[in-house]
Amino acid sequence: MVSSSPPAPSPLHGEGGITSGDPAAFDGLAEGYDAAFSHRPIGRFLRGVVQARLAAHFRAGDHVLEMGCGTGEDALWLAERGIRVTATDASETMLAVTRAKCAGQALVEARRLDLAGLRGEEDEEELNRRDAENTEEYGDSTAKTQSTQRNTAEWDGGFSSFGAMNCLEDWRGVAGWLGERIRPGGIVGLGVMSPWCVWEPLWHGLHGDWRTATRRWRRKTLFQGAADGQATAVTYPSIGRLSRDFAPYFERIHVQPLGLFLPPSDVFGVIEKRPRLMRLLMALEARFGRARLLAALADHYWVEFRRRESNAD
Ligand SMILES: C[S@@+](CC[C@H](N)C(=O)[O-])C[C@H]1O[C@@H](n2cnc3c(N)ncnc32)[C@H](O)[C@@H]1O
Repeated sequence: MVSSSPPAPSPLHGEGGITSGDPAAFDGLAEGYDAAFSHRPIGRFLRGVVQARLAAHFRAGDHVLEMGCGTGEDALWLAERGIRVTATDASETMLAVTRAKCAGQALVEARRLDLAGLRGEEDEEELNRRDAENTEEYGDSTAKTQSTQRNTAEWDGGFSSFGAMNCLEDWRGVAGWLGERIRPGGIVGLGVMSPWCVWEPLWHGLHGDWRTATRRWRRKTLFQGAADGQATAVTYPSIGRLSRDFAPYFERIHVQPLGLFLPPSDVFGVIEKRPRLMRLLMALEARFGRARLLAALADHYWVEFRRRESNAD
């Protein structure tokens, strides 16, 4: 997630009364987002790492779900490789940028989806209710047919790059919802801001800004995308927490750092002004990019789950 210095989001502090999942917080960011992040040298490098992972799993002809697509950079990249993308975001302003960027690209469908409202269990309850009604009316076989229809997968896989998952406070709902819609064996990849990022406390600590230096350790901060915009809560789930919430439906198959040597976006400018240092950090990032044990120390970690053939007990 882009994390500070205009037009990137400026984190606020003070956790009282935060409500999570107010996607309007991102509306004011949409227009400047690519200039502040996607089109910066470090942003491009990090997105390249994500796209290499997507390319490892998704093939032309696949249909994938993108969650929190922002300005549609990854959706367009995948579509140019023959992959059909349902690109979703809760912010209409972000979706407008995605639609404009992907205009004429028939393989991208941009659609509003608020991840905070997703629940697998509710679908289950609804299905059970309908099954019970059908059983009463028609006997067991029709109820079983309904169950089979419900399990028809919509997508071959899914992903979310750079922080949309940090806008939730509980991931069981989205995991359950995905569990019902990703085909068995399908991959879900998530780029998530880590609670243990080393850069942030070092950089902000050295500059005497302790509130910012320690914000991830509080696990929940207030984020305001634009100075006059809505605020929303940002959380920092650990790899373990996310894995536990996904575990009933998905097994974790891969984790790696994303921004271990390269800094969070509010420090991009400092490094980009020093091209030799930037090249060195990029080389280190590439060298240690698969170091699973260092993933939690990065700005984001990238975690991949595979949909189980059947739900875990
Ligand atoms: C930091 S941006 C990342 C955008 C994009 N994935 C990228 O790689 O550049 C986070 C995105 O998550 C979206 N978002 C925040 N809360 C959301 C929610 N509850 N449901 C869906 N999207 C959400 C925001 O609107 C924003 O576009």
